[in-house]
Amino acid sequence: MAKISVIYYSAYGHTFDLAQAIEKGAKDAGAETRLRKVKELVPEDIIKANKGMSYGRDLQKGVQEATLDDLTWADGIAFGTPTRFGNTTAQIRNFLDQTGPLWGKGALAGKVAAFFTGASTPHGGHETTILTLSTFAYHHGMLILPMGYTIKGSVDPYGPTYISGDGSKPVGEEEKRLAQEFGKNLAKVAQKLAGK
Ligand SMILES: Cc1cc2nc3c(=O)[nH]c(=O)nc-3n(C[C@H](O)[C@H](O)[C@H](O)COP(=O)(O)O)c2cc1C
Repeated sequence: MAKISVIYYSAYGHTFDLAQAIEKGAKDAGAETRLRKVKELVPEDIIKANKGMSYGRDLQKGVQEATLDDLTWADGIAFGTPTRFGNTTAQIRNFLDQTGPLWGKGALAGKVAAFFTGASTPHGGHETTILTLSTFAYHHGMLILPMGYTIKGSVDPYGPTYISGDGSKPVGEEEKRLAQEFGKNLAKVAQKLAGK
């Protein structure tokens, strides 16, 4: 059985939705999973004053915060973040920046890394976000798993994505289906590479 961690940041809940779909796919493929959110960096008074962020925060109350052990434990890891100005969020970057000691030991080398994101507009930076998020994995010697067009209906070769519109549009069923199928692939590839 492969061990799969899904590590993500989500302010309003969309990326959380996609993270859950990936985790479900991995579980359906027989993997043991951990779903983990990274530490919030936005000050509490700003979250409280923002209806959408308060909603997103409450939605994820039951999710454990990611630790480095969630990386070393796993055979495959999916990393997710919303797009911020065509780039990753500071929150996920903050978490990844803490992996220096693991890099020093080569602890993540050979593990499978996959990426997912979302943005409000169709060309708002999905690809640049996944590419900038993925550079850390090259430095760790991880093996990057793209989605390609291997899943019927895929339009995102870099990894699963969603489009949130003005924020009121929930993640679509087709977006979730693709994420779920990708989660299955991640579990299968990680299992093979881990020789399990
Ligand atoms: C500071 C900021 C920058 C953003 N930059 C972009 C962007 O470059 N392109 C885009 O389409 N959407 C952008 N968005 C919209 C977010 O990507 C969208 O709200 C997010 O994907 C929702 O994810 P979440 O519900 O998981 O927090 C931005 C939002 C914020 C708050």
